[in-house]
Amino acid sequence: MLTFNDLCNKHGTDKGDQHHEKHGYSFVYDENLLPLRNEPINILEIGVFEPSFPGASLQVLKEYFPRATIYGMDVMEEARKLEDQRVTIFIGDQGNPATWSEFHQQHNIAFDVVIDDGSHRFADQMVSFQHLFPRVARGGIYFIEDLHGADGYKTRLAFNNYQTVKFFASFRQEIQDISFHCDEKLLVIKKCS
Ligand SMILES: C[S@@+](CC[C@H](N)C(=O)[O-])C[C@H]1O[C@@H](n2cnc3c(N)ncnc32)[C@H](O)[C@@H]1O
Repeated sequence: MLTFNDLCNKHGTDKGDQHHEKHGYSFVYDENLLPLRNEPINILEIGVFEPSFPGASLQVLKEYFPRATIYGMDVMEEARKLEDQRVTIFIGDQGNPATWSEFHQQHNIAFDVVIDDGSHRFADQMVSFQHLFPRVARGGIYFIEDLHGADGYKTRLAFNNYQTVKFFASFRQEIQDISFHCDEKLLVIKKCS
């Protein structure tokens, strides 16, 4: 059976250790997601249409999770092309709260896994987290990638200090664990079960 890293390298996303920036997030994904591999889970990925490898991560998710229902959201209209029987695409700006109101109206779902690989901007990551974390199923996992770019250091700082930061007041009780990986480029937030 192919590992998450094998699949990332097969489909060409930079989450693996062979293509583009070779982030190696794949090993952290394997460690956290292996127990869910054959479960009928709901997954959402923000950011799915990188022009140099469009839809690569969706291919990985489809193959890794044969029973999952997969949702992809992206700001680019072209991402609609990636929709198929197992993947639902939603077009919108992750930094706009109205996007998430519309998204939740259309898809009233508890997500087991959320991956934020969208704009990589602090403000957008926080808006998305604020609107999505309450929709994460108990025991679910929320990943935020690429904290090394743009103003990702602000995201690192906020989550590092989440016990005291006001923004997190309503989420604190729901957060079981927060950890940073891959030279602090990848954030893993686990929801209490
Ligand atoms: C790094 S690429 C995603 C790569 C993909 N996850 C993979 O590993 O194959 C980032 C994606 O985020 C999308 N994006 C950028 N800003 C966004 C925003 N504000 N809202 C939603 N998606 C955004 C881009 O259009 C692009 O498709």
